[in-house]
Amino acid sequence: MLCTCFNAVGFNWLASPAATELEMVVMDWLAHMLKLPASFMFSSGTAGGVGGGGGVIQNTTSEAIFTHSTFTKASRLAGICPSNVRSIPTSRDTDFALSPELLRKVVEADVESGLVPLYLCLTVGTTSTTAVDPLEPLAHVANDYNMWVHVDAAYGGSACICPEFRHYLNGVERVDSLSLSPHKWLLSYLDCCCLWVKRSDLLVNALSTNPEYLRNQPSDSDSVVDYKDWQLGTGRRFKSLRLWLVLRSYGVANIQSHIRSDVRMARMLEGFVKSDLRFEVVVPRKFALVCFRLKSFSRAEPSYVDSLNRKLLEWVNSTGRAYMSHTVVGGVYMLRFAVGATLTEERHVVAAWQLIKDGADAVLKVKGA
Ligand SMILES: Cc1ncc(COP(=O)(O)O)c(C=O)c1O
Repeated sequence: MLCTCFNAVGFNWLASPAATELEMVVMDWLAHMLKLPASFMFSSGTAGGVGGGGGVIQNTTSEAIFTHSTFTKASRLAGICPSNVRSIPTSRDTDFALSPELLRKVVEADVESGLVPLYLCLTVGTTSTTAVDPLEPLAHVANDYNMWVHVDAAYGGSACICPEFRHYLNGVERVDSLSLSPHKWLLSYLDCCCLWVKRSDLLVNALSTNPEYLRNQPSDSDSVVDYKDWQLGTGRRFKSLRLWLVLRSYGVANIQSHIRSDVRMARMLEGFVKSDLRFEVVVPRKFALVCFRLKSFSRAEPSYVDSLNRKLLEWVNSTGRAYMSHTVVGGVYMLRFAVGATLTEERHVVAAWQLIKDGADAVLKVKGA
């Protein structure tokens, strides 16, 4: 509301010094909370933060088009033929994380055939299963080929403000950029995607436009950050306010408690699933998402088990008392139970599990399984 009422249009420093400078401050605060290397922060960079490391608040991760399904759109815009974008398969053996050995093989084959590897996108907390790519060994491969490495930590990155989850970012010092969307799990609302880069000069060189009507003395002196050159569009709102308010009003310890509480409730649901022989946890839980399903049983066709799970999902969602989603990864259909709403309490998770069990009773009875 504040952000809308202020209606500051801070496309460059001069248009709203406060909007620009507060954004630089909160991006450094969050970088400190994540224990990012100093090379991603304004505070340790060049005068005014120009050219060195730093962060910017984009709209959504997908709108920033460096990751997710919209990356293919970015490639098209950049003139890269879609057939030159590689989606490297993952499997249950690596908990659906990208394998460094496989990455090296794919890159080597491409180089052999005359292609130039440019960019590697790694994920900390994939959309489907919250799998975590091992940053250190994967970035090693990419560094050998001078590829730009981006880490999409849209969801999972938020957990890394807690010391017990920070190891998922090990190796981040080897990457070029990292993004995290506080509107997913850090108590902020849409749209708030934080992007850090080590070399803002590369970003600015690629995106800067300087029509006469935007020229001004501070920009010309290269001593200020003009965020219009860190994003695709020009106009931008006072977005740092929402993050500043969250960080100032909750404080780090309370935000950590919020993450831990969601993880604890997801772990509780995972325990319930494991204790019921009809179910299995399909992918080891890392954060607050549990990927599970009704298990296969003797002589059951995989497609039959999938259909049971589909029915169970429909049954639960049709009650209107809980909402789950599904995914198919590695050919396996699974149900996704995510804890994340601020008002969720243990009693809701207990009730949801009872609902899931009732649904399983109903589905298995009808199917005569
Ligand atoms: C890993 C990951 N990256 C990016 C996105 C897209 O996020 P945004 O809402 O910021 O566009 C998602 C959304 O599900 C996601 O899970």
